Amino acid sequence: MTVQSDRAAWFEGGEAKCSQPPSPNDRPFRLVLLGPPGVGKGTQAELLCKTLGTCHLSTGDVFRAAQCRNDHSPALRTALDAMRRGELVSDGLVVSMVQERSNCLSCFGGFLLDGFPRTAAQAEALDDLLDQQGVRLDAVLSYELPLAEIVDRLGGRRTCSKCKAVFHTTSRPPHQEGVCDMCGGELIQREDDRPESIRVRMQAYEESTRPLADYYEKSGRLLRINAAGAPDEILERSLEALQAKASAPRT
Ligand code: AP5
Repeated sequence: MTVQSDRAAWFEGGEAKCSQPPSPNDRPFRLVLLGPPGVGKGTQAELLCKTLGTCHLSTGDVFRAAQCRNDHSPALRTALDAMRRGELVSDGLVVSMVQERSNCLSCFGGFLLDGFPRTAAQAEALDDLLDQQGVRLDAVLSYELPLAEIVDRLGGRRTCSKCKAVFHTTSRPPHQEGVCDMCGGELIQREDDRPESIRVRMQAYEESTRPLADYYEKSGRLLRINAAGAPDEILERSLEALQAKASAPRT
């Protein structure tokens, strides 16, 4: 059985190393997932990583892990307050956090960035970091779904307080209500899944993140994916789009 990496290099940054190095990957995929809050990026990231053998790098996960510790610097406290309200964390803090973890971008297993970049400044910073690491982005998968369905996905989301596994009250219910299938931890509603925070997150997405689709489309890296239907169907669409891109002649 393959032991899953604890992604320590991503979660802790600096010199930290993952407990289980990724398996050698002949074709390491380097991908970004774009899309509004709740469209299902985290769910697809999990499935894509299992299929492609890449590592899931989520900036939101790093902030939520930091939330559980109590050694918060003033800058981190400000970031976590912004996150609770549903606002974006400042570009300066997010970029320096990713910079501290930029070795993960040249990891031989590949990567799947989820939640970064979210602004034009972050997209430019990522291009610079990739240049420094000597690697290229293969594609940006942009997941698209009508707002009403997104709100339903967010409203029913429950997250394990221990292992962070994600469930949904109707589309992916746990075997026992309120209890994580993976580790037995308590399932909770994320603080930023309250209606007032959801409104702020959607607004931040429309203003700052949606325009990134154009940025990546212009450089031929964008793949638009219909995010309706079951997670496995969306995975299938994503893999087909990646395959089609890989076999298309370079422009
Ligand atoms: P982050 O953690 O990145 O959250 P997000 O982008 O808002 O995305 P979510 O995790 O809410 O949703 P998702 O698309 O992953 O959906 P999921 O798969 O869980 O960021 C959180 C905050 O951190 C930000 O608001 C910001 O404050 C800060 N932050 C992070 N990165 C930042 C950055 N770069 N710059 C500035 N600030 C940053 O699915 C949702 C639900 O739907 C689940 O219950 C799931 O089970 C269900 N579901 C999924 N797929 C399906 C399906 N196909 N059918 C039915 N149900 C489904």
